Amino acid sequence: MKRKQWLISMGGLVLSPKLVWGNAIIELDKLRIAELGHDFKWGVANAAFQVEGAVNVDGKLPSIWDEFSHKKGNIKNKHNADVACDFYHRYGEDINITSDLGFKHFRFSIAWTRVVKSDLKTPNTDGINYYLSMLRSLHGAGLTPWVTLYHWDLPLILEQKGGWSNREIISYFKRFVEICLENFGELVDHWFVVNEPAAFVSLGYLSGYHAPGKKSPFGFLKSVHHVCLAVSVAGNLIREFNPKNKIGIAYSYSVVHGGNGEDKNSVEKVDAFLNRLFIEPFLGKGYPTDSLPVLKRINNYMEEGDNEKLNFEFDFVGVQYYFRVVVEKSSWIPFLKSKEVPATKRGVLMNSMKREIYPQGMYDCLMRLKNYGFKDILVSENGVCFDDQLVDGVINDVDRIEFFRRHLDELSRAKNDQCPVSGYFVWTLTDNFEWSEGYSNRFGIVHVDFDTQMRTIKKSGYWWQSILSN
Ligand code: NOJ
Repeated sequence: MKRKQWLISMGGLVLSPKLVWGNAIIELDKLRIAELGHDFKWGVANAAFQVEGAVNVDGKLPSIWDEFSHKKGNIKNKHNADVACDFYHRYGEDINITSDLGFKHFRFSIAWTRVVKSDLKTPNTDGINYYLSMLRSLHGAGLTPWVTLYHWDLPLILEQKGGWSNREIISYFKRFVEICLENFGELVDHWFVVNEPAAFVSLGYLSGYHAPGKKSPFGFLKSVHHVCLAVSVAGNLIREFNPKNKIGIAYSYSVVHGGNGEDKNSVEKVDAFLNRLFIEPFLGKGYPTDSLPVLKRINNYMEEGDNEKLNFEFDFVGVQYYFRVVVEKSSWIPFLKSKEVPATKRGVLMNSMKREIYPQGMYDCLMRLKNYGFKDILVSENGVCFDDQLVDGVINDVDRIEFFRRHLDELSRAKNDQCPVSGYFVWTLTDNFEWSEGYSNRFGIVHVDFDTQMRTIKKSGYWWQSILSN
């Protein structure tokens, strides 16, 4: 054997050091998976509006995001989601990729706008049939469906009545959920009632950065309360429909830190706003007025019995962790009295949205939820956007692989510290429409060419495949 070639021969196999080393690393990565147990759930997640496209197909009604994304200045590079990943027509291919990569669970959302007619009460059979055939494909591919009932694409007709800031929305939401149960109940056991309430209420009704683009403090406070009521009304309905159903919610979670002691108060306020606001009301603790007194104004929108109605025990909670937020005191900012110190000014590792990559935060948020007493916790989203480059048909996204490794290590650490975490969903399968950021930030483990709709599995996708395979 020539020294230059420096090959290693093992039991008849001739391997290069690179290969041996690569295999050893994969074996170590596999240990990361094994350590979490054979019943740990591994899945991918996506959301209707971000992938489906098919904007006017089969009786779909317009949503607030259809309108918002077509208004000038709302979305980067004037992108819209009329076609997105064309998942509506290509779900078969994406489902096959998911199972080929070794995942066993698939989280997706149902577009409210597809399953009802314009009276918002009558089922729309064509839209329902789409989800039925998609659900059958999931089962056929051995994937367990996890349905998100509301991932932000509110029917526009409802927004014209005030959207989440109008209490009437609760009964409309209840009807929508009932339609989903009646039609999909036999094929679905796991339900996330809403996705990231803190995000869609604050971005949609306070900062106006997301649809419906409102900037109203009162609208925001009303919406907080109506979302909470709608979640517990829907949760009870799902449980009554079939006590075997498993009901959860998907929380955004931001680890909030301050620069120095002075900022302690700001940290508390921002944490209450971003994290506690939609957790504590369901636990009988009310809104976190201790840290954010302005929330007392929600009392103005409370009706008799509301406090009791809010109590709801989830079977599981999902947590979606992406980045850390650092804040500092700022007397100018109303109520929160704090402002963010951008990651760009802190010299830290960032994703392509200029958000800090901070793996330890995964441990922190899981332990926080454990300390609230939740008995079953899933990471319902985790992932990272980078400016991926397709070179000669290959996307060598090694940084994304490293991101997953570091975050899984933190997840294992939490599990070793008795956190009851039982699953992990990658955000996301394919690159897709990242809301106001358009298509410029790629989160997928599968690359999408948005001109041709061609899918190319990234190196990170193959990495998942090699560690999930036995
Ligand atoms: C959480 C949201 O649920 C999802 O829709 C979004 O794309 C990811 N965060 C990434 O920003």
